[in-house]
Amino acid sequence: MRVATLSAEDDYEGWRAAARTLACAGVAAEEVVWRVDGAASDDLFAGEPIAAEPATGRFRVPRAFPDLAETAVLHSDPERFALLYALLLRLRATPKLLEDSADPLVRRVEGLARAVQRDLHKMRAFLRFREVEEEDAARYVAWFEPEHHIVRRNANFFVDRFASMRWSILTPELSLHWDGTILREGPGASRADAPEEDPVEAVWKTYYAAIFNPARLKPGAMLKEMPRRYWKNMPETALVPELMKGARARESGMIEATPAAAGGNLQAAWEALRNEAASCTRCHLYKHATQTVFGEGPISARMMLVGEQPGDQEDLAGRPFVGPAGQMLDRALEAAGVDRSETYVTNAVKHFKFEPRGKRRIHAKPDAGEIEACRWWIEQETMLLRPEITVALGATAARALLGRTVTIGRERGRPLDLPGGGRGWITVHPSYLLRIPDKARAADEFERFVDDLKGAHTLLA
Ligand code: URA
Repeated sequence: MRVATLSAEDDYEGWRAAARTLACAGVAAEEVVWRVDGAASDDLFAGEPIAAEPATGRFRVPRAFPDLAETAVLHSDPERFALLYALLLRLRATPKLLEDSADPLVRRVEGLARAVQRDLHKMRAFLRFREVEEEDAARYVAWFEPEHHIVRRNANFFVDRFASMRWSILTPELSLHWDGTILREGPGASRADAPEEDPVEAVWKTYYAAIFNPARLKPGAMLKEMPRRYWKNMPETALVPELMKGARARESGMIEATPAAAGGNLQAAWEALRNEAASCTRCHLYKHATQTVFGEGPISARMMLVGEQPGDQEDLAGRPFVGPAGQMLDRALEAAGVDRSETYVTNAVKHFKFEPRGKRRIHAKPDAGEIEACRWWIEQETMLLRPEITVALGATAARALLGRTVTIGRERGRPLDLPGGGRGWITVHPSYLLRIPDKARAADEFERFVDDLKGAHTLLA
């Protein structure tokens, strides 16, 4: 018997090195005991330990295997290391084995990887930070109970997404702490270590009551959007049983879900969201801006227009697109036959970013971290409104909506599927038109902009 000791439950590199050494030495799968350091007492294992050093012999595996193994190894099934090793040995003899999805071992390992993928996604989608006041600044703390060993694998996602916030993610296995520059790892925590009281709990309850409104969702759909297992970690889900009751009663015809009632809830939820955004400190931009400039327009709008960030005049007025770019947008909307009052107009970044120059405040482009930090709001607005078409005005808006860098010239003027559902349409930012010195070119570009708006609008028909 050989004992392969890994340093942690998610030690893929350790597994890989040991598996390589063992496979090169011709050790059969049933001759290896896999253990994680500290997970079992030494005297249970009598065998010869494996030095986890890469073997020098030639070793080839199909390209898809490392990806599969790197994910499946995070599963909480104690047999995963052994299963992966057994699969590795079989792949050496049958390199195309992974294509045989009827093979029980392939199916089992693929099932492990799929479960891990789902858990990775759920942590990203359902983790909720709560604000905690510390001496110098706010820290956001979240409690999460993953099913598998996915926390470290997800760390970079949260660092990228919330780069400018200070946050801690507490889980039973380990905790992650980000101070804006360095990510530290700490020991596992318990639920009691996370703040119990959410200062904005009432706001979120109103909000989620509308998002998961029985008039908008069937009970099954509600469960699908927010799996039951996650309810306990979300304060707003105290409302779920009540909502479910309402949904069932509606389905059985006991109560009528009127659009007016649904609209009322949505309006209240939107107001809750806007109030919450008014004190947003997700990134540093709030420090110098006058106020948060939230979106505006009817909650029932079928078309949403997304700009970059408020400008000088918007910052003072507290409303989007009221300055020169807004006037250009108004002209183009009118030419396209789109009634602005029927659209919802918002920005990817909700605070004005500028550089002071004498008495003037010069617009400065938001960076990727600021766009990411603010993306939370546009996602919430989108969830609430569920517009049929969302028009990104310029590259910043397109990036916020698609989560990737976009080249406007290449992707403008045609429908795209948005990651969060609904369709997107990319065009230029109206201030681009203001900067074109040549009159004839400016007129042409204006026409193209109008055509883009028209094209997006016709999708509604
Ligand atoms: N530019 C934008 O992108 N949004 C505004 O609200 C104003 C100018």
